[in-house]
Amino acid sequence: MDRLPRQCRQWVLARHPRGQVRDEDFALRTVPIEPLGEGEALARTMWLAFEPAMRGWLDDSRDRWGRTEGVGSPGYDVRVRPGDVVLGPAVASVVASRRSELHEGDVIRGLFGWRDHVRIGAGDPLVTLDPDVDIPLSLGVLGGNGLTAYAGLLRVGQAQPGNTVVVSGAAGSVGSVAGQIARIKGCRVIGIAGGPEKCAWLLDECGFNDCIDYRNTDVAVALRRLCPDSIDVYFDNVGGSILEVAIANMAVHGRIVLCGSVADYDAAATAAGPRNLFHVIARRVRMEGFLLVDHLDALGDARAELRQWVDSGRIAYRHDICEGFENVPSTFRRLFTGENRGKQLLRL
Ligand SMILES: NC(=O)c1ccc[n+]([C@@H]2O[C@H](COP(=O)([O-])OP(=O)(O)OC[C@H]3O[C@@H](n4cnc5c(N)ncnc54)[C@H](OP(=O)(O)O)[C@@H]3O)[C@@H](O)[C@H]2O)c1
Repeated sequence: MDRLPRQCRQWVLARHPRGQVRDEDFALRTVPIEPLGEGEALARTMWLAFEPAMRGWLDDSRDRWGRTEGVGSPGYDVRVRPGDVVLGPAVASVVASRRSELHEGDVIRGLFGWRDHVRIGAGDPLVTLDPDVDIPLSLGVLGGNGLTAYAGLLRVGQAQPGNTVVVSGAAGSVGSVAGQIARIKGCRVIGIAGGPEKCAWLLDECGFNDCIDYRNTDVAVALRRLCPDSIDVYFDNVGGSILEVAIANMAVHGRIVLCGSVADYDAAATAAGPRNLFHVIARRVRMEGFLLVDHLDALGDARAELRQWVDSGRIAYRHDICEGFENVPSTFRRLFTGENRGKQLLRL
């Protein structure tokens, strides 16, 4: 107990962001660490992981999406209020424990938030990691992102060999895995990503058949050219205008997998649309939103298959690792500027 650090640094929400998230939306605070009570433990944060959906947690209670709070949308109905420590996934190492099942050196994972030390309460649920685990992998392709890609593409999208699959946000942590699973399953895969470097990585390392650089290309023209026989599965990570263009190119009985809507998360106002939903009717397209939590029964098989593909080099991945607690807000912003190259992490 003598070795307990005296202070903890934490990033709190200074104000609800309006539109694009800014560094000034957050404030760095130092607070004392009180002695541990019976059943409590203290852990030092080793890694923070960043997900676009965390942006929605920072909005004020006026819910710009319509009603999602309190309707059972785990992961989307979290709220952070000014003065609260910003929530986010983290991995931490136990430095002191008065909780019987936790020992110094144990590595734990949870929604610990942006703080350099986390106090674990007596009744708090725990996920303990194997000491040999590759932490970045477990937070990315072998964690929620890879599993989301797997469940979305195969269960919701019902991708079949020979299908044409289009993935937006394709160079990201979820999108790159979704596209590679489609390739492994015998689909023709077209990615949509921002910039020539991301497209080159998808073509050269991930084995996509084609890639559209949406920042420098007319996506509508490119999709029509690349998918003359239409899209069987569209795996949507971004929403917005790209979703509308994809809808216009869907095959009869095609499937649109609504995984995320990152183009809207950081926008000042949510745009109306898509304006062409009539295509969904006329072509009998199934458009389905999903959350990973609805597919927990598939996780065992999914994890085993992903592990095999990663170990055998059939799935390429990237970790984008920033350093330094002072850089937490700027690291988060990379998800919305597109600077991140793969799973966005910060190592403390
Ligand atoms: N349904 C679920 O259960 C579930 C679970 C996890 C994640 N998700 C969703 O999956 C999506 C991808 O998450 P991720 O963790 O893999 O993030 P990510 O793709 O690694 O990072 C975000 C990427 O989004 C792109 N982006 C940002 N602003 C954009 C805009 N205005 N228009 C188009 N693209 C934009 C950027 O790539 P470019 O440079 O290519 O623009 C950026 O690199 C997110 O929407 C997330 O909410 C859903």
